[in-house]
Amino acid sequence: MLKLAVFVSGRGSNLKSIVDSIETGKLNAIVLAVISNKSDAPALSFAKDKSILTFVVSSNNNQEAISFFDLSQKLIELEIDLIVLAGFLKKIPDDFVELFENRIINIHPALLPSFGGKGMYGLNVHKAVFDSSAKLSGATVHFVNQNYDEGKIIAQKCVDISDVKTPEEIADRVLNIEHLLLPEVIQFFAEGKVKIINQRVVIE
Ligand code: GRF
Repeated sequence: MLKLAVFVSGRGSNLKSIVDSIETGKLNAIVLAVISNKSDAPALSFAKDKSILTFVVSSNNNQEAISFFDLSQKLIELEIDLIVLAGFLKKIPDDFVELFENRIINIHPALLPSFGGKGMYGLNVHKAVFDSSAKLSGATVHFVNQNYDEGKIIAQKCVDISDVKTPEEIADRVLNIEHLLLPEVIQFFAEGKVKIINQRVVIE
């Protein structure tokens, strides 16, 4: 069974979709830890209600939080197979990324490589997509490297937005497909189907 650590900063609907998929038998994994940079994130309360181990992490000597280095040691002790960033808004330090190379994935609410990078999170993304007049948007799951939203793309799903009237409508449609895509991709990892061949990620 694939052992997961999920990083969150906010409401945690993607965390819920992972836990739901596990509980309904669609995903052969276990969430062993939920980590947040915000001690009051609703996603952390959800994890506690589910009796999942939680940690608050910080890069700036915050007394109530642990450092990324200490967190990395905990995740090694827990033998975590895959780290899932599901709405985690802090940059992951480079040495942490290196330590877990090709074992950290992120979900982004647009079709990368467009509409990504620093500052492109939450409604900012959907506003940029709306203003571009793009007719399709979607969700992307990608490996995390040292640069925001630039790691190799693992899987994407798109959604028709040709008739939307507001960025919020785009956000709703994209979130629905995020909840399908992320558990699906994690299941590919659980089945050992995610490979990097000739610099491309393939599922086979
Ligand atoms: C999602 O749109 C995700 O793509 C992005 O942050 C949002 C998190 O939402 N990275 P939630 O906390 O999972 O509800």
